[in-house]
This record gives sequence, C-alpha cells and structure tokens, in this order.
Amino acid sequence: MSWCSRARSIGWLAAVAGIVGLGVSTTPAAAQNYPTRSITMIVPFAAGGPTDVIARIVTAHMAQTLGQSIIIENVVGAGGTTATARAARAANDGYTLITGHMGTHAAAVPLYPKLAYHPERDFEPVALLAGTPILILARKDFAPKDTKEFVDYIKANSEKVNAAHAGVGSVSHVSCELLNSILDVKPVGVPFNGTGPAMNALVAGQVDYMCDQIVNAVPQINAGTIKAYAIATPERNPALPNVPTTTEAGLPKFQAQAWNAIFAPKGTPAPILAKLNAAAAKALDDEGVRKRLLELGSVIPAPADRTPEALAALVKGEVAKWSAVLKPAS
Ligand code: MLT
Repeated sequence: MSWCSRARSIGWLAAVAGIVGLGVSTTPAAAQNYPTRSITMIVPFAAGGPTDVIARIVTAHMAQTLGQSIIIENVVGAGGTTATARAARAANDGYTLITGHMGTHAAAVPLYPKLAYHPERDFEPVALLAGTPILILARKDFAPKDTKEFVDYIKANSEKVNAAHAGVGSVSHVSCELLNSILDVKPVGVPFNGTGPAMNALVAGQVDYMCDQIVNAVPQINAGTIKAYAIATPERNPALPNVPTTTEAGLPKFQAQAWNAIFAPKGTPAPILAKLNAAAAKALDDEGVRKRLLELGSVIPAPADRTPEALAALVKGEVAKWSAVLKPAS
C-alpha cells in the first residue's frame, strides 16, 4: 500500500473517529442513505392511548415513504419521562425516535426538578403530528348530568371523588391539575401507565372522572360507555358536535389542548431530520391518514406548523408556559 493511499485510509479513519468522537454516530454517507434498517419509535405510554394511536396512524404511512418498517415500542412510567430520558440517551443516528407531547416535552420540566433530560437541550424537533383538545370525561353512571352539576358535585365531594391520569406530568394529569385548581378541589389522583388503561377503568366505573385527549375519548363517547361533559377549546369539535365547549358550559377558564410530536436525540444529522420531517408531512397530507386523525378529533397542523423550527418554537413556548403555572410535584 503506497504512503498516499495509507495516508488516505488513515485520514478517512481519523475522520470517522472524529465524527464518532463528537458524539455523532453517523457518517455523512450513512445519513445520505438513511434509512437502511427498521426504525424504533418509542411511545412513552401504554398501547391504545392517544399518543400510541397517533404514533401508529402516522408512522404506518411514514414507513411506506421511508421504505423501512417503524416499530413502536411502548415504554411506560413516571408520566412518560422514563421513556423520554431513554430516548434522549439513544444513539443520534435516526434509528431511535420518540413521539412525545405537551407533557413529556413541556410540563415535565417544572414538575420534575431532577428531570434527566431537557426538551430543548437533548432533542431535535422533527415534526408536530396532531393537536389534541382535552375533554372532561366521567364514568357513565356518575351522578352529575352536566358540567354545572359536575362542578357543584366535585366541590361538595372533593375528598371523596377520584380522577384518573397517566402519571405526574402527563397530559391527563396536568390538564386536570389545571381544572382542579380552577375549581379549588383536590380529588384523589389514580395513576395509570397511560390513558388507554385509564379509559378502561373509566368505562368499567372504577374511577370517577378524567381529563383526556379527544383521540382517546371519541370511540367511547360515541359508544355511550362514558360521559363527556365539555371540550376545553373555544370551538366545538367536528368529531363530537354534541359536546359543548367549557365556555358554553359555564367554565370558560378551563381551556386545554395538548399536542403530540416526533423528536430525535440531539445531534441527529440534518439530512436524516429532513427526511423524517418530509415523511411526516407527507403522511399528514395523505387522505387516509387525515380521515383517521380527523375522525378522532385531532387538529391536523397546517404546513407552516409542521416545520422543525415551528415545533422548536412550540416546545420553547410550552416549557415557559407550564413552568410559570406548575410547581414541582410534592
Ligand atoms: C397516553 O397516550 O396515554 C397519554 O398521552 C397519556 C397522557 O399524557 O395523559
């Protein structure tokens, strides 16, 4: 081997070593050819919940665009922060992603003083997937017939009623914390590994009420297996035209809409992020994907809101918003 080709090979090896040494585990060539194998999408809550359902609907289409399977891995615990911390430590090669949301990538920051990640420092924003209005839901045989009766009942029986949620910092936890602070009540919180299992408990009448994302509630409301008092958005949702807004129901202060989005570990190469963002945008333009998301009451982001920059701005604003209103979990 001539000195020139040896120098070239050493130079190449040094370059790769340098890249790896910088914590970037992907060479430019690998980034350009991405993906060459299946991708893991971590969902920080139990299967069947809103984040899982949104992730599965969108990634099924993304997999077709990318030409590789996207395998959903449900990792539960601590309001979604266990999974999110794990995703933050994953290789930044584009093969481990997470579908996070307003809880894992915003509200968790003020609630967990020793949080093992920061949404802005440890993640690359990939794409916003769906806005998810919050509803006040109750078990079918709960006595209050409407929101006004619900408010009166909860205030009169604060110590006796219980509210299901998906762990401290989850959307269902934070949304009902907001509601409970408006009503000045302190119900017993009943945690689950996601609002999929929590919804099963609500349908079974094992818990009294819950604040949950619309995509988890529409099937049960339409089946008549739970009560929906109101939706916490200024307008009614086309998927639930008969459910009044909290304003119509006399609770205008309770406004809450969550969101779900894809994130990659910090340092994931830009060409990979661009491919993922384009595949997500294409999925959100697909008629079949849109139909399924809209049937479940999702708010599909406009193209301008689908860019990584728009998601970065959303996360920044949401972290600031929730840090101003939430205190560390006791
Ligand atoms: C879920 O998918 O179970 C929910 O996103 C949990 C939550 O944040 O309430």
